[in-house]
Amino acid sequence: MANNMRVTVTGGAGFIGSHLVDLLIEKGYQVIVVDSLEKQVHRGKKPSYLNKKAKYIFDKCEKKDVLKKYIPKTDILIHLAASVGVGQSMYQIKKYIKGNTYATASILEYLSSHCHKIKKILVASSMSIYGEGKYYCSKDGVFNPQIRTEKQLSTGNWDYKCPSCGKNLVPIATSEDKPLYPTSIYAVTKRDQEEMVHIIGKAYNIPTVALRFFNVYGSRQSLSNPYTGVLAIFASRLLNNHSPVIYEDGNQTRDFINVSDLVRGILLAMKDDKANGKSINLGTGIATSVKMIASIMQQHILKDGDITITNRFRNGDIRHCFADITLAKKLLGFKPKIRLKNGLLDYIEWLSTQESADNFAKVEKELKMKGLV
Ligand SMILES: NC(=O)c1ccc[n+]([C@@H]2O[C@H](COP(=O)([O-])OP(=O)(O)OC[C@H]3O[C@@H](n4cnc5c(N)ncnc54)[C@H](O)[C@@H]3O)[C@@H](O)[C@H]2O)c1
Ligand SMILES: [Zn+2]
Repeated sequence: MANNMRVTVTGGAGFIGSHLVDLLIEKGYQVIVVDSLEKQVHRGKKPSYLNKKAKYIFDKCEKKDVLKKYIPKTDILIHLAASVGVGQSMYQIKKYIKGNTYATASILEYLSSHCHKIKKILVASSMSIYGEGKYYCSKDGVFNPQIRTEKQLSTGNWDYKCPSCGKNLVPIATSEDKPLYPTSIYAVTKRDQEEMVHIIGKAYNIPTVALRFFNVYGSRQSLSNPYTGVLAIFASRLLNNHSPVIYEDGNQTRDFINVSDLVRGILLAMKDDKANGKSINLGTGIATSVKMIASIMQQHILKDGDITITNRFRNGDIRHCFADITLAKKLLGFKPKIRLKNGLLDYIEWLSTQESADNFAKVEKELKMKGLV
């Protein structure tokens, strides 16, 4: 794919988008960013890290008069703009449907009825669409369990047992063919975005790729948005001298991928036709416990004190999910390079230049009032 291609990145002023824009520009692409600088993420300010070599449209990417400006100039569309927040999506339901499902629908409808030269669309999907990850029993094989019931969680039994023999199930890497069991409105909208993009792409002969990001971390992740990833939430607590608060027993695991590895994966998927028509995991393939991450951050930021393990739970939380990255390796030659410990140290160094309000108590109060925690 030639470098004189014009790539439009919606959400390109955000955490992942801005790193992607830097990489695209470094590789010689012309880049247009369409970003509405959402208040919850940017606190009403233009971020200082924006790459000066990109062109910017600071507006909603789904508005007709905005589409009119950028679609005719776009060769490749990378749609990252979204409302991002699992917990918040459970009570601001319309905001998430509008910002994610409806916004994507508007872009696709525009393409269906206007001339354009778009050669490929990539869309940001999420590991959240899987719900629980995959599990294995040495006697009875693979299981794809549904979310744990409130009854189970209220007894403090966090782990899954094999429904046939009763032994503890072992979490295994989650591959793209696992049935999708979204457990939040956010996840439903991510699945919607993925499916809509593939369906319209197929109907109108536009190659499409959906990338299922796992837990992405790194500099520029909004610390003011209290609804985003677990690392940013821990960070904003630690920066305010509060220990991270951990639900359940802390042994739940996630797959933490450094943003620089992730954006390399997006670029590979953009360039390689083998990804076309596919939904592909982008993670590291390594499971790390939430307790471990919290301890490392606590040690390096606060130096003393303990992490707080609550043994309480949030409805809808999954126990384990980490990526099977065989497909990304096979189709794209994708290989994450950054080891978590090194990536975390870099992240912590960046954090030391940041200020942040600790919104954890406010969010927990909201969730409590709604009976979600
Ligand atoms: N961060 C993660 O761990 C993670 C994991 C899985 C999937 N994702 C997906 O990756 C994408 C990027 O997430 P992020 O972590 O960089 O979040 P972010 O909030 O930092 O970035 C999103 C950007 O989109 C902009 N935006 C939101 N709605 C818009 C609209 N209608 N029009 C134009 N701009 C709009 C925001 O202002 C923001 O700059 C999202 O689609 C998200 O669902 C992120
Ligand atoms: Zn069994």
